[in-house]
Amino acid sequence: MANSNYEYVKSFEVEDRLMPSTWIVVRIDGCHFHRFSEDHEFDKPNDERALNLMNSCAMAMLEEFPDIVFAYGVSDEYSFILKKTSQLYERRASKILSLTVSFFSSVYGFMWKEFFPNKKLKYPPYFDGRVVCYPSAKILQDYLAWRQVDCHINNQYNTCFWALVKSGKSKMEAHNLLKGTQTQEKNELLFQQFSINYNTLPAMFRKGSCVFKDKQTSVQEVSLVLDPLTTGKGRRYCEVQRGW
Ligand code: GTP
Ligand code: MG
Repeated sequence: MANSNYEYVKSFEVEDRLMPSTWIVVRIDGCHFHRFSEDHEFDKPNDERALNLMNSCAMAMLEEFPDIVFAYGVSDEYSFILKKTSQLYERRASKILSLTVSFFSSVYGFMWKEFFPNKKLKYPPYFDGRVVCYPSAKILQDYLAWRQVDCHINNQYNTCFWALVKSGKSKMEAHNLLKGTQTQEKNELLFQQFSINYNTLPAMFRKGSCVFKDKQTSVQEVSLVLDPLTTGKGRRYCEVQRGW
């Protein structure tokens, strides 16, 4: 009874249920990972250990939250797709977002040693997140294509940039050389100057990673729009079926 005078404060809480019958996408992104990757001496432009750590966190997410049917990751970000019918925490946005981001961040720190056995974690890594609902498979496909185009553009630029820097150019020179160049010119530069065939670089670097469970029907629905490239242990690298 003593509490009843104060219960009115609950009326200030806002309703934040996500739209029903839509794909829920949670995108998690490392906070200040530019600095974090420098401080922990990640390989440039891609650190396989760091990417595999992100992939393992994503796998742990699929185990912890069974409504996640598909996940796509690149660099310091990962997108998680929850099935349309999900009733996870009654679809309350703040619950879903806070719990998934918190879980992912914890697992990242928890598994760090497994991927960087000789590197001390200097400070706690943390992630931000956002949640968006998509009403159709087409829009969901476009969402994933958007993230994958970003992966391609950044990776191709970074591959050229670091090849130039490692060959003795200053960062400013490398930046100026690449300014305004198109995809084909970057591929030529890599091939002519560094004998690198961009298309043969690891798919995980060029296209990102994805994680999904095989046996759920809802997963198959999503995988229709995706083309898994290679199969690993419960993990696949994929290509969104859409050119850029
Ligand atoms: P906020 O997300 O806004 O906090 O910024 P951020 O510093 O995390 O940068 P952003 O998310 O835009 O980009 C991720 C950054 O992480 C990249 O720019 C890189 O500096 C770094 N990063 C991610 N993956 C790797 C990697 O495999 N190797 C290296 N060297 N750096 C990486
Ligand atoms: Mg980031």
